[in-house]
Formats: sequence, structure tokens, C-alpha cells
Amino acid sequence: MVERSVQFRGFRLSAEVPDRVGQLMRRVIGGARRPPLAQPQVIVRGDSRLLVRDPPPTTFVRHDPEIGLGFITDRIAHRARAAAQAAGRPKTPTSATDTDEAGALARQVAAQPWYHTIELPYGIETSGYYDHRPLVPIYGIPADLTGKRVLDVATADGFWAFEFERRGGEVTALDIETTADVDLPPRVQQLATQRGYADLLGDGFELAHRSLGSKVKRVVGTVYDLDPDRLGRFDLVHTGDLLLHLRDPIRALQQLRTVTEGEFLLSDVFDSTIGWPQRIESGVSHYLGGSIMAGWWTPALGTLVQMVIDAGFSDVEVLTVYSLIPRGMRDGPWRAVLRARP
Ligand SMILES: C[S@@+](CC[C@H](N)C(=O)[O-])C[C@H]1O[C@@H](n2cnc3c(N)ncnc32)[C@H](O)[C@@H]1O
Repeated sequence: MVERSVQFRGFRLSAEVPDRVGQLMRRVIGGARRPPLAQPQVIVRGDSRLLVRDPPPTTFVRHDPEIGLGFITDRIAHRARAAAQAAGRPKTPTSATDTDEAGALARQVAAQPWYHTIELPYGIETSGYYDHRPLVPIYGIPADLTGKRVLDVATADGFWAFEFERRGGEVTALDIETTADVDLPPRVQQLATQRGYADLLGDGFELAHRSLGSKVKRVVGTVYDLDPDRLGRFDLVHTGDLLLHLRDPIRALQQLRTVTEGEFLLSDVFDSTIGWPQRIESGVSHYLGGSIMAGWWTPALGTLVQMVIDAGFSDVEVLTVYSLIPRGMRDGPWRAVLRARP
């Protein structure tokens, strides 16, 4: 009998695996104990019984693949707007800052769509969709990472990778090459291919990296192919807001575990309409199908914890729960930061 436990705000939730499996099996198989919606037809053959009933009406949504491309078209539109603005600027410099390095950096930063808000030299700040700075003190990152090998998976513009470097870590940052590598439903993928949408990712990272004089090593690849023989194993592995964008989050978690030597830090969206905050529900997730902003799943908080446990991690703790409101929005989804060991 293996005891699995989860720490949350001073509470220790524990369960014994065989009991849990038994309970789940009863819940699934025991569907027959629920009152049937209509009287089923019963066919008896020897000791076995077959119950058959009319299927209930089913609802499904066929999303417009155009909507599924929103996260790419937003990036393309940003670049087009920035190029149009730059073309409208006077050709001759109007002030000293138009010619100096700060001016050049400011122009490059403005031309780039940013996910992260990052402080760059000369007081220049990227206009990220999210500003994670208030989150840093409560995120659970060790204060001192001197000499530690750190891996930031799905680094985007690199906010977290640069933060780990600032704390002394020897950081590797991984992300996919282009938007064509995102897990998309076939109809959305097909439309993206027809239009030749393979927007290069990582140019924001490269710009920030250059201007910060960073030594973070950026590698191109997918979480699914993480391999300790290629990258080694790390004292700290971090990934934020990745699982919801993956068709196969459990496979990704299993791969993340293969490169984790010390600690795994995960931040991801959970569905705050399921159970929370009354109880930490597990076994339930909303399926979004990748059709809106490349989102596939929003699990209940307990399900997120369970996914990490089921991928083989142990000592899973929920460190904090937060809602970070994106720039210009009225609200944002709830997210949790989880810490675990391989
Ligand atoms: C919502 S952003 C999160 C950025 C950052 N990790 C954070 O927490 O602020 C999602 C990131 O996941 C990356 N991504 C998507 N699919 C991926 C995959 N299969 N492997 C690695 N990264 C992926 C995207 O390119 C993007 O940079």
C-alpha cells in the first residue's frame, strides 16, 4: 500500500493508492448504481447481463478554425502595426535618442509582440501581455541558485529564465521553434499551413537576451522530446502555463520528470469553477480541444495535482494559488504553483 500525500496551506491530504483506485473503479463501473435516465433494455446471457438504452441528446461545438488561429494572427497583426508606424516616422532623426542605442533598442522592442514584461537597460520595459513581477516573491523559487543547473521549459520571452539567472543559476531555456509546432486541432493546423503561418518564436527572447547580456542558453525543442542524454538533468526544472496548451499533458509531465534531478516547479491554469475553494476536487477537467488560444484542458486543482502524481512525481505541494490579470483585461484565470520531486 503506497501512501500519496499533498500539502496545501498547512493541510496534508493523503490517500492510499489501492483504495483510491478501488474508489475510482467503483465510481466508473458503479455508474449502474445511479438511477438510469430511462429504463434500459436488459439482455441476459448465462451469468452476464447487457443493459442497452437510447443515447441521450449530445451537445458538441464545431469551432471556427479561424478563431483557433487567433493567437497567431494577434502576433502577425502586432508586427504589421509596428511596421506601419515605423514607416510613418520621419526619416531624419528628430532627437538625440533617435540615433543612440537606447532609441534603437526602444524601436526594436516596440516592433515585437511580447508575452512577458521584462525590464531592459535604459529603463526600457517590454509591453508584455502579462506582468509577472508581483508574482516573483511568492512563486517559491529558491532565493539562491548559485551553481545550480536550471531548466525553463516553454520559456517564451524568457522572463523566468532571466530571473533564475539573476539568482545565480546556470540556465537552459527551451521553447518550440515556430507557432507551427504548437499542438493544434487538425482543422486549425490545416488552415495555418494553407496560410503559411509559421511565425518564428524566440525573437523577443533573443532581443532581451542580447540587451541584458544574458548567458542563458536557449535550445529549440518540444517538451515531448526532453531527453536527459541530450540536456542532462537539472537541479530545478520549471514550466509555466504549458500544460493547458498541450494535447498530451501527462506525456509532457513524464518527460519533464526524466530531466528533473532536484525540484520541479510547475505553474498552470486550473478551473476555479470546479470544487475550489470549498474543496480540492480531483478527477475532473474541462476539455477545450485546442480550438481557442491553443487551450486544451483546464483541470480542477486536485486534478492538476493528480496529474503530477500520476506522471511519477512525489512530494507534491501546492505552494500558492493566484490570478494574474493580463494587460487591458478585467480578469484572468486562476493558476496554481506546484512543487514536486522526481
Ligand atoms: C502561455 S506561454 C507561457 C510562457 C512562460 N512559460 C510563462 O510561464 O510565463 C506558453 C509557451 O509554451 C510554449 N510551447 C507550446 N507548446 C510547446 C511544446 N510542445 N514544447 C515546449 N514549449 C511549448 C509556447 O511557445 C509558449 O512560449
